[in-house]
Amino acid sequence: MDTRIKTVYGRQILDSRGNPTVEVECFLECGITARAGVPSGASTGSHEAVELRDGDKKRFFGKGVLNAVKNVNGPVAEKISGMDAVNQGEIDLAMISLDGTPNKANLGANAILAVSLAVARAAAIATGLPLFHYLGGANATRLPVPMMNILNGGVHANWQGADFQEYMIVPYGADNVRQSIEWGSEVYHALKSVLKAKGHSVGVGDEGGFAPEVSSNEEPIELIMQAITEVGLTPGKDIGIALDPASTEFFKDGRYLLRTENRELTSEEMVEYHAALAERYPYVVLEDGLAEDDWAGWKILNERLGAMIELVGDDLFVTNVRRIERGIKEDIANGVLIKLNQIGTLTETMAAVRMARLAGWGAMVSHRSGETVDSFIADMTVALDTGHLKTGAPARGERVEKYNQLMRIEEQLGDAASFAGKNAFARPVRSF
Ligand code: PGA
Ligand code: ZN
Repeated sequence: MDTRIKTVYGRQILDSRGNPTVEVECFLECGITARAGVPSGASTGSHEAVELRDGDKKRFFGKGVLNAVKNVNGPVAEKISGMDAVNQGEIDLAMISLDGTPNKANLGANAILAVSLAVARAAAIATGLPLFHYLGGANATRLPVPMMNILNGGVHANWQGADFQEYMIVPYGADNVRQSIEWGSEVYHALKSVLKAKGHSVGVGDEGGFAPEVSSNEEPIELIMQAITEVGLTPGKDIGIALDPASTEFFKDGRYLLRTENRELTSEEMVEYHAALAERYPYVVLEDGLAEDDWAGWKILNERLGAMIELVGDDLFVTNVRRIERGIKEDIANGVLIKLNQIGTLTETMAAVRMARLAGWGAMVSHRSGETVDSFIADMTVALDTGHLKTGAPARGERVEKYNQLMRIEEQLGDAASFAGKNAFARPVRSF
C-alpha cells in the first residue's frame, strides 16, 4: 500500500455555531482519502495558537477562513505532497517549520491542524487499523469517563445565567462507557424536568447544556444534584461533579467578578469559594478555577485543594509544553486540559499529554464550544489513555457524535474493553 500523500485539499465549512471553519481531505497515492474538521473556541485563552480568520467584514462578519484554506491548498499541499502519511511527526514538523512562527500565525493553526488530523486518519485507514489503534497501539483498550456539560453559563450562555461556564456530570460509577452515557442522558433529561418545574427556561447554550437564569453559581449544582437523585442514582457514588468556571472570562483588574452574586473576589477569596464548594459536593475536577495568568493564585489553589481534587489548567496551559513545564516546576496544578486546536498539530498535542502523564498529572481531552461532527478526539482519548473526555451535553449532533464513537469503540473492543471509572483522575474519588 502506497501511503505517500498525493495531495491535501481544504475547504471552508460551518461549525456548530454557524461560523466558518476549516475542513481538509487528504488523498494518498494508494487511492485512500480521509477528511478532518477543526473546532473553534469562544472563551479562548490568549496564549493559544493563532486561529487564522480573514477579517473581511463583508463576509461572515470577518470570520471567514478562506486565507487558511488557501494556505492548505497552496504552500502546505506543496510541502507535504510525496511525504509518507505514516510519518506523522515528520509531516507536523514540516508544517511547523513552513509556518516559521512560534504560534502558527502565518499559516494558521486551523489550517495546520486540519491537515495534521486528515493525514492521521488517512494513514489509519491505509494501515487497516481503527483510528484509536493506529494512534495508540494494541494496548489502547481503556474507555474514558465522559465529562458531560449539562448546564452552561458564562459566554456560552451569553452571560444570561451563571458566571461559571460549565457544570459537568461525571458518571464514574458505571460499569462501562455505554452505561455511563445512558446515566448521563437520563440525568440530562431529569435536569430538564427539574428546571421546568421551577419555572426556568430550558433553552440550551453552545455546548448543549441548559442555560437557566440563576441567582448564584452554586444553584446549578443543587439543581444537578436533584436531577441525579431523581433518576435513582447517588451523587458521589455513581456520579460526580466537575466544574469549569472559565475564570479568565470574569477576571478584571486583579478581581474575579461574580455578576450573579454581585461580588468581587480576590484570588485567595476565589480559592476559598471553591474550597467551600468542594466540601459540600462530590467534586472530582475543577478546571480553570482561576485565570490564565494568575500563576500566584494557582499556587494557592493547588496548595489548598491539590491533594483533594484534580485541578486542570485550560487557558492557563493551552496544551503548550512550555507552559505545562513551567506549571509542573512551580507545582501550581495537577492536570491539564488537552485541546488540539490550542496548539495546532497532533504531534504537539501528544507531547503535551506525555509530559503531563509523566509528571503524574491528569490529562483531560476536550472539544471546543464551536464543533464539527468530526469525532477524532474520541479515538484520540482512547489511544492516549487519558481516562476522561469532555465533549459537552449528551445532546446536539456535534456533541453526541463523540459519545457515540466511544460506544462504537467499546463495542469493537468487546471483552478487551475496560472503563476508566473512578481511576480516571489525578486524585482518587473521595467518598461522600
Ligand atoms: P471554548 O470553551 O471552547 O469556548 O474555549 C471550552 C472551555 O473553556 O473549556
Ligand atoms: Zn475550559
